Parts: sequence; structure tokens; C-alpha cells
Amino acid sequence: MSTHTRRPLTDAPFLAAATGGVPHRRPVWFMRQAGRSLPEYREVRAGIGMLESCFDPELVCEITMQPVRRHRVDAAILFSDIVVPLKAAGIDLDIVAGVGPVVTNPVRTVADVRALPRLRAEEVGAVTAGVKLLLDALGDTPLIGFAGAPFTLASYLVEGGPSKNHERTKAMMLADPETWHQLLGVLTDITIEFLCAQIDAGVDAVQVFDSWAGALSLAQYRKYVLPHSERVFAEIASAGIPRIHFGVGTGELLGAMGEAGADVVGVDWRIPLTEAARRVGPGKALQGNLDPAVLFAGSAAIESEVRRIAREADEAIALGAKGHIFNLGHGVLPNTDPGVITETVALIHSLPAPL
Ligand code: CP3
Repeated sequence: MSTHTRRPLTDAPFLAAATGGVPHRRPVWFMRQAGRSLPEYREVRAGIGMLESCFDPELVCEITMQPVRRHRVDAAILFSDIVVPLKAAGIDLDIVAGVGPVVTNPVRTVADVRALPRLRAEEVGAVTAGVKLLLDALGDTPLIGFAGAPFTLASYLVEGGPSKNHERTKAMMLADPETWHQLLGVLTDITIEFLCAQIDAGVDAVQVFDSWAGALSLAQYRKYVLPHSERVFAEIASAGIPRIHFGVGTGELLGAMGEAGADVVGVDWRIPLTEAARRVGPGKALQGNLDPAVLFAGSAAIESEVRRIAREADEAIALGAKGHIFNLGHGVLPNTDPGVITETVALIHSLPAPL
């Protein structure tokens, strides 16, 4: 599938942990490691809109590199957003600072669903140009590409913006399952196209963010979401790169999210990694799960939480998990002290690597 010659990153701890190898140190990266916690990010973003930045290959490269340079994390995550492929396909939306994605004409009817555009790979050419710049800039640090999962994208489109209760989304799902599955089918196609474009450009791993799936019961997830997410993971399997699946508040869904087909399951801070290992079952690696708020609690609390998570990760591996990638349970909060992030990375690197 890939037109890019993949870099031979045989020594990368992140890739070893994701694939059942033995990392020479405990790998760590943080969701939202790029962004407002960094003064150098605020500086390069000054006066430039969020979406505009996502379609500027040089800025994408620079912002993605910033946390790698500063914190010495074991992976870079492409600076982009889950709504970038929707925007690229022609859906009228914006990312409003302090709010999130806002969609001008929310998708509420079967006619709205039928009118949705498809994504062509060339429409995300600026993103893939950013990926190519990054492969040169990163040296032997792996690059993670990403996309939103169909359910989380659907929530933004149906609600028209961020939502606490996802009531319009659930209403469509429950009252008009046919329209719902059509909508998720279209979004699944867009997600696959966006991921394949990044994979063809050379990313070393991908993460699928189903950030808001935790709003669903297990039964709802299995019936209305899982078949679509399964299709996403199946379509990118032949690329042979690690596929990570993450959502917030998904303790009850972890088994099903693993079944969707990922190699690595992301876990938030609400459940211990040992319990996550039991729920996911053997043969997959785990990623997580420090509460982002702990980074505000001072070095003693951070050290004790980091050590606890490392211990639980080692136990999870003894229970059958294929490996552990240290991360937060959700993204870096915007007011986090970047110095604390750097120190936390160094602390994690100083711990013995899991066997
Ligand atoms: O992790 C990284 O460092 C990569 C960058 C990244 C961004 N968005 C940049 C961004 C990633 C992986 C995303 C994915 C994303 N976007 C998700 C899934 C991850 C998650 O948090 O669960 C979601 C739900 C979105 C939608 C979205 N975009 C939200 C909720 C927001 C925050 C709104 C705000 O201002 O508080 C955005 C905007 C956004 N995406 C910012 C960044 C750096 C902030 C924009 C700014 O700096 O003005």
C-alpha cells in the first residue's frame, strides 16, 4: 500500500513496546504534547488560526517537533486535528479557541447525510507534505499519525460542536439507526482515506481517537459503533504499522475497543492497567494512564503516581499484555508547566524498562 520506504527504526522503544519487542527504556509520549502548554507553540501560532496552521506543512513540522526537542519523548504525534479531514473534504467548520470544533450546518437528517462529501487523498496534501518534512526532521524518533474514530467525528457533526451529553447523536442512533449507520459509513470512509494518506506518506504508527465513546453503554457501542471502527482497523492492517485505539472513560468498553482490531489500547486514569489488561485480554499492548491533573500536584505526588503506573504496567505484562507505552490518560492540560512535563519524561526514562 505504502509508496514511502519506511525508515528502519529498529531501536525505537515506542515501536518495540507496541509490537511485543523489548524496549531498551520505558517509552513515553503524551497526548497533546504539542500545543498551548508550550510558549514556543503560542509564539508560532500567534495570529494564525488553528485550522490554517494544520494546512501549513512547515508549521505542522515545527509544532510537531517542539515537544520532541524540549521533552525528549519517544514519539512525535503529528500536529493536526480530528476535524482536518472533514474540513479538507469541504464541510464548513472551524476550530474555535477555548471551545473546539464548531460545524456551521449540523448533520441531522438523512438528506444531510446523503449530502456529505467524500475525502480525496490530495485534499490532505498539505498534511502529507508535513509528514514528509517530519520524517527528515525526526531522525530516529517515530512519528504517530492519527484520525478521529467515526463515532467521535459523528458527535461533532450531529451536535454541531462539543457536547457533554451527546443527546442529539444518541437520538439519531436510537431513533433512526439506518441514517446513523449511513453516517458512520461515510465517516469510516473519510477516516480510512485520511489514515491511508498519512501511512503512504510514511508515518510509523497511527492512533485512532474515539475520545467520546465512553459516553456509550457497552451494548450501544457494540451495536452502533464497533462494526465501523472494526472496518477502520481492518482496512489499515496491511500497512503493518502499530495501530493504537484510545477513548476517555472507556473502562467498560476496553474489551470491545480491543476487538475493533488495534495492536495497542489506550487507557484513561480511571482504571488500573492491571484491570485494563484483564479486560483487553492477552496479545495487545497498553498505553497510559497518568491523570493529566497529577502534573499539577508537585514532584512527590507525580513520582509516586508514575512509579505506581510503572508497577501496574509490569503486572499487566505479566498478565499477558504485550507491552506498555507510558502516556497520560488524556491530553496535556493547557496550563501545565512544561518544565514538569520534561521532568516527568526524565523520571519515566530513569525507571527500569518493562521486560
Ligand atoms: O496530541 C498532540 O499533540 C497532537 C495534536 C492534536 C490536536 N488535536 C491539536 C489541537 C490531536 C491529537 C488532536 C485530536 C483531537 N481534536 C481530539 C482527540 C483527542 C482528545 O483530546 O480526545 C479531539 C476530541 C479534538 C477536537 C478538538 N480540537 C478540541 C476538543 C480542541 C480544544 C479546544 C480548545 O481550545 O480548548 C481542539 C483544538 C486543538 N486541537 C488545539 C490543539 C493544539 C488547541 C487549539 C489552539 O491552540 O488554539
